[in-house]
Amino acid sequence: MYPINGGPVVLSGTAHEGLSQKICNYLGIDIGNADVFKFSNDNTFVKILENVRARDVFIVQPTAEPVNDHIMEMLIMIDAAHRASAGRITAVVPYYSYARTDKKDQPRVPITGRLIADLLETAGADRFLTVDLHAGQVQGFFKVPVDELTAMPMLSKFFKEKELEAPVVVSPDIGSVKRARDFAHFMEAPLAIVEKRRTGNNDSVETHNVIGEVDGRNAILIDDEIATGGTMAAAAQGLRENGARDVFVAAAHGVFPGEAATNLAEMPEISEIVITDTVPLPKHKHHEKIRVLSIAPLIGEAITRIHHGRSVGALFPD
Ligand code: R5P
Repeated sequence: MYPINGGPVVLSGTAHEGLSQKICNYLGIDIGNADVFKFSNDNTFVKILENVRARDVFIVQPTAEPVNDHIMEMLIMIDAAHRASAGRITAVVPYYSYARTDKKDQPRVPITGRLIADLLETAGADRFLTVDLHAGQVQGFFKVPVDELTAMPMLSKFFKEKELEAPVVVSPDIGSVKRARDFAHFMEAPLAIVEKRRTGNNDSVETHNVIGEVDGRNAILIDDEIATGGTMAAAAQGLRENGARDVFVAAAHGVFPGEAATNLAEMPEISEIVITDTVPLPKHKHHEKIRVLSIAPLIGEAITRIHHGRSVGALFPD
């Protein structure tokens, strides 16, 4: 790190330029000027087209599909900023997908969440800014300071304003209970849990018991992310079988590979899906039942606070 001069500089990878633009709108600045492209031999190249010497640089790149390409691009952008003598570099990764590979829970498997953290630091990242990691402990994979923002207050506010009759907040698996409990606390609603089991490494999900009272209630399923939608689909079916009225689905990250968005949205058991824009949702995946709230003001405010050395934690009072 070098001394920092001037205001923040936001550079955008190609994963989600729309989000970078909204973050810059919040900050009242233009996106930093950079060329990011691939040569014909498939090698990624980056040229930062403005002076970043001693500047506070924020590089925005969620690990959206194609995930590995976007990670490589991010590493190369960090390297370019580092070699251009940036004062400080913050890797802004609104969605950190490899956080799901966070432990050796079977023989001979990697801990890729740690590997990518090491790579970001080796490239030159001085800080890491992210949103709703799969598990909070993933912060410990980084030696540099981590700021983990959460979309949960924003999502719970959205549902509170709906004034649903007899709401119940539901965790779609045991691993997400703490998140759902906090959400339920804010909603002043009871909590229920769906017991989920995965049947291998291939995304298939089996739902077992519903723990808690859901009969006659409007259920809000809350999770960190929706990927294939298998978890939410199985949980929504389980809830309806147990007498739930409307089932709403909410998550910080809507990953939705392939046809997942349409398949989930068209389930009659689900009334609405609410996500944020940490991951881009291309036009062909839009659906009248999918509502996208923007995370940009929260990230923009965190960037302001990091830049000025003010508390980020104060954004999330208990
Ligand atoms: C993992 O346990 C996460 O909290 C989510 O439940 C999971 O990533 C959702 O994946 P899918 O939508 O593919 O079931």
